[in-house]
Amino acid sequence: MDSIIVTGNGPLSGQIPIAGAKNACLTLMPATLLSDEPLTLTNAPRLSDIRTMTTLLQSLGAEVQALNEGQVLALSSHALTSTRAEYDIVRKMRASILVLGPLLAKHGHAEVSLPGGCAIGARPVDLHLRALEAMGAELDLREGYVHAKAPAGGLKGGIVDFPLVSVGATENALMAATLAKGTTLIKNAAREPEIVDLARCLQKMGAQISGEGTSTIEVQGVETLGGATHRVVTDRIELGTYMLAPAIAGGEVECLGGTIELVQSFCETLDAAGISVEETPTGLKVSRKNGRVRAVDVTTEPFPGFPTDLQAQMMALLCTAEGTSVLEEKIFENRFMHAPELMRMGAQIDVHGGTAKVTGVDKLKGAPVMATDLRASVSLILAGLAAEGETVVNRVYHLDRGYEHVVRKLSGVGAKIERVRNE
Ligand code: UD1
Repeated sequence: MDSIIVTGNGPLSGQIPIAGAKNACLTLMPATLLSDEPLTLTNAPRLSDIRTMTTLLQSLGAEVQALNEGQVLALSSHALTSTRAEYDIVRKMRASILVLGPLLAKHGHAEVSLPGGCAIGARPVDLHLRALEAMGAELDLREGYVHAKAPAGGLKGGIVDFPLVSVGATENALMAATLAKGTTLIKNAAREPEIVDLARCLQKMGAQISGEGTSTIEVQGVETLGGATHRVVTDRIELGTYMLAPAIAGGEVECLGGTIELVQSFCETLDAAGISVEETPTGLKVSRKNGRVRAVDVTTEPFPGFPTDLQAQMMALLCTAEGTSVLEEKIFENRFMHAPELMRMGAQIDVHGGTAKVTGVDKLKGAPVMATDLRASVSLILAGLAAEGETVVNRVYHLDRGYEHVVRKLSGVGAKIERVRNE
């Protein structure tokens, strides 16, 4: 298992290219299952989650070719051989549930393993199932699998009214609705940029969708969908993560490909903390020039609110801020596993349920720490950028799920960081 060693090394300077969004790519890839024509995705990130989705689609008989060092994915589902997503692949990644809607819509039936538990909370899939039921699907949960069947003649348009906002359930509903007969209204839909990106791609394939990016999406079902070529939207979470690097270590870094609209509420929080963000023709330039960061309160919310996927990284920044910050996690239970690790580095954090109180200290000190999940792992690397001495982040395989070339990107702006293989 590999470790990453970071040594606090002063201000950063330079540019970091931001990749295509993991979470967009993970929903764009299963969209291939809706059509017999080829789907080509460009600007794909090179990540283990993308390889897991590739394996899952291939297990169904889809063709998935990674070209141009993995930045282009050529997909085709013209010769599908199975509509069953096996537990062995699904258990590795919850986003596997996103094959359910497309399989059911195109083939009239599907069996998908239930994803099971996950480190950051219970994360059920009831909303995904409810959405498909609203389109006439009959569902049966047996032996750990969802057995789904569409009515004779296929899924029917319906009203999907979500009691709470779910990104994945909105994506499943949207994909399924494109081939359902009649009109589907998705109410209380998620508004994340990844949903808009999915809708754009489906529209290129011939889907009739309006209202994407708002909380009501209307889909007029069509008979068939065609092929498309689509560029994956910029990863706003990778963007926010690297924007925090100069905020924590000092200096000035331009994140290439970033735009304010992807990270509006995050930028407002950075501004309140005393970090400057400037939009350039090529990206977002972030700097911390004057003194210490100020404490700010953060509440995670569905988009356009502050993203839960940036909460751990933001906490790393606030560990050395002037004053006390209160972070409220409203999306997932048990998403403060990075807090005890940051405390090993000298941070002062009090966690009570979904609230963490962070009292800034002058400086963190390097320590051996353990990555517990994807975002937690990168928050420890960020914390290490400004800590005194060496921080060794163990179990970095979590990191490979969501961040490509972390060492290359951070050392490119002057950070002292290396990856070592532990025998
Ligand atoms: C997606 C992102 C993840 C991000 C999350 C919230 C992908 C691949 N992952 O996950 O990185 O942290 O959005 O922005 O895009 N819920 C239910 N029942 C359901 C589905 C969800 O109760 O059927 C609950 C969840 O437990 C959670 C909340 O709804 O409390 C929001 O989760 P959701 O938006 O569905 O997250 P994901 O789509 O799994």
